[in-house]
Amino acid sequence: MTDKFIKKTIEGLENSSCWGANELAMRKDQNLLYSLSWDNQGFIIENFLNPEEYAEFIKNVGIFFSETLSELKVSVSPTFNFSEYHKIAGEHHLDFINKIKHLDSKNFPIDKSIIEKRISDIMGFNVTNFNPTTKESVFHFRVIRPNFSDNNPIHRDTWHWEYKDNINIYVGLFGSDERTSLPIIPGSHHWNESKVKRTESGALINGIQYVVPATTEVSEEHSIIRPNPAENEVMIFSPYLLHGGAINESENHTRISLEMRFWKSNNELDKPTNT
Ligand SMILES: [Fe+2]
Repeated sequence: MTDKFIKKTIEGLENSSCWGANELAMRKDQNLLYSLSWDNQGFIIENFLNPEEYAEFIKNVGIFFSETLSELKVSVSPTFNFSEYHKIAGEHHLDFINKIKHLDSKNFPIDKSIIEKRISDIMGFNVTNFNPTTKESVFHFRVIRPNFSDNNPIHRDTWHWEYKDNINIYVGLFGSDERTSLPIIPGSHHWNESKVKRTESGALINGIQYVVPATTEVSEEHSIIRPNPAENEVMIFSPYLLHGGAINESENHTRISLEMRFWKSNNELDKPTNT
C-alpha cells in the first residue's frame, strides 16, 4: 500500500493541507522505544493475556456491549458475534460508539493491573495507564463497520496535546483481519514533521468532522502495512508513528478493537534514561 492508499483515506477531504515545519516530531527523551530492538519499525506484536485472562476479558466485553445496546433498546445475547454488529446497530450506531469510547479505566473488563503488568513486561519497564497531562485513566473501543466511513484518517497521536511520551496499543477483538485492522507506516515515528503534509486541524471529510488531522502526502519512501495481530495478540506502537486510515475493506465484518495508552510509571521516571 502506498500513496494510492493515502489518497483513498482522504477522498472527500474538504480542508486544505500543508507540509509540516522543519522540526523533529520526537526528541530522544520522548521516545519510550529508545534502546528497544523494535525502535526502528516503531511497533511490535506480542501475545496479549494468558488464555484464562483473555477468556474473562472477551466475555466481559461481550456483556458490556450487550448491556449498552440494551440501554438503546437493541437486544443481543452476550455471546453475540459482534463482527455482525453492523446488521443490528442501525440508527443507534452513533449513540453506541459514544457510550463505548473514552471509558474510565476503573470499568476495564478485567483488573486493569493485569494489562499494565503485561505491557510493562513487554516494554521492560513499568508503565501506567494514568495520563499525567490529563490526569485521566481511560480506554476506548473502536468500531469500524463495512461500507461506512467510520475510520480516522492517517495521523500521529502526538498531533494531540494530550498524547506525548506514551505508547498506544491495538487489540483486535471482533472482525479484525488483514482487510480491517489498523494500518501503520513503519519507521515514520522518526520522520521530521516536514516529511508529512497534513491538515492543520481536524480533517473534514464528506461533511464528517474528525478530531485528528489527516495526512495527505508524505515525502519519505515508505510502505503502509496492516500488521494484523491475531486473536489475543497486542500491537504496541509509538504515538509518533503514522497510523490510521483503517478503511474496512471487508464486505461483511465489523471490526471492533481496544485502544489504550500507557506512560512510564513515576518510579521509572526517577531512573536514568536508557542507554
Ligand atoms: Fe491514533
